[in-house]
Order: sequence, then structure tokens, then C-alpha cells
Amino acid sequence: MYQLTPETPQDYWEVEALYDTCFAPGREALSSYRLRDGVPAVTGLSHVARDAGGILGGAIRYWPVRIGDVAALLLGPVAVHPTRQGEGLGRALIEESLRHAAPLGWDRVMLVGDAPYYGRFGFEVLNNVEMPPPTNPARVLGRAIAPGAWDGVSGKVRRWLD
Ligand SMILES: CC(C)(COP(=O)(O)OP(=O)(O)OC[C@H]1O[C@@H](n2cnc3c(N)ncnc32)[C@H](O)[C@@H]1OP(=O)(O)O)[C@@H](O)C(=O)NCCC(=O)NCCS
Repeated sequence: MYQLTPETPQDYWEVEALYDTCFAPGREALSSYRLRDGVPAVTGLSHVARDAGGILGGAIRYWPVRIGDVAALLLGPVAVHPTRQGEGLGRALIEESLRHAAPLGWDRVMLVGDAPYYGRFGFEVLNNVEMPPPTNPARVLGRAIAPGAWDGVSGKVRRWLD
């Protein structure tokens, strides 16, 4: 059994090490990281999953971004340790963390990822939303938290602080 709790500053380096294990080297060169530079992750939404022994099995983080003047959550990175994959932990992290999004005032969430995986959580291609290049537009996905929240939203995704 895993316990999912909001990430704290004490979890930070362990989560970084998990991401280094789960992603290819150079992950921070991805364009989505430019949107995170110098911007704190969203407090209360980023979560860690630990087993009964306190071992970190998975983690998810969120950053705030803007499309024009519209605010959105950027989901990711999400990762589950290779020895713990396929047990539903990815699903648990995504669903549990997103449960907190509406109460914290967020209306929409987006990410860059595999549609076959995220489609099962209601994410669909955002045709009119542009991530910084080079990003495959077919991997730019979104899910409305408030009904219709992506309707009419278009343009370039920019850093929260720009
Ligand atoms: C993606 C990831 C977070 C999923 O975590 P998980 O705990 O294994 O996921 P779950 O157990 O909830 O779901 C497993 C299911 O997702 C499927 N799945 C996993 N990654 C997938 C992908 N990239 N595309 C399509 N399906 C995928 C598995 O085949 C499995 O399918 P099944 O339920 O039909 O058997 C994990 O595989 C991971 O950390 N991968 C490396 C890092 C990564 O790619 N992160 C996502 C960045 S977009």
C-alpha cells in the first residue's frame, strides 16, 4: 500500500533522483522545462507516493503556466520507479493530485505526453495551444477541470512569470 501526500521541501532531492532514474538523461533540456525555470511548483498539488517502509515509489509535480491571459496547470513530470510500474501508482498519483485542483482554484490542466496513456484520464489533444518548440503538437494534451474550460483557449504557452 502506498501513501500519497503533498510534496514537501524535504522530498525535493529524492524526487529529483527518481526523475533522473525514470527519464532519459538530459530531461531538463526539454522545452517544457523552460516554462518551469525560476517558477515554483504548485504547492499542494505536487505529490509523492511512499510505501509502508517510506520508500519513494512515484511522484508528480505541477507548474502554473499561461496561454494568453488564461491560467493553466502544467502536469509533469510524473514518474513511477521502474520496479513499481504497472501497479496503478501512476493512475493514483494523477487522480489523487487532480482531485485537489478545483478546490485550489484551477480550471484546466495540460501536459506534454503520450495520448494513449493520458487519454484514459480524459486528456485530449489541444489543437490550438502551442508549446515552445520543439514539441510534437500531437503530444500537447489538456483536460478541463471546470466544464468547457479549454473552449476557445488558443495561443502560445508561456512562463507564469513572463
Ligand atoms: C508513465 C508512468 C508514470 C505510468 O506509471 P504506472 O504506475 O506504470 O501506470 P499505471 O500502473 O497507472 O498504468 C499502467 C498502464 O499504463 C500503460 N502505459 C504506461 N506508459 C504508457 C505510455 N507511455 N503509453 C501508453 N500506455 C502506457 C501500461 O501499459 C499499463 O497499461 P494496462 O493498464 O493496460 O496494463 C510510468 O510508466 C513512468 O514513470 N514512466 C517513465 C517516465 C514517463 O514516461 N513519465 C511520463 C512522461 S509523459
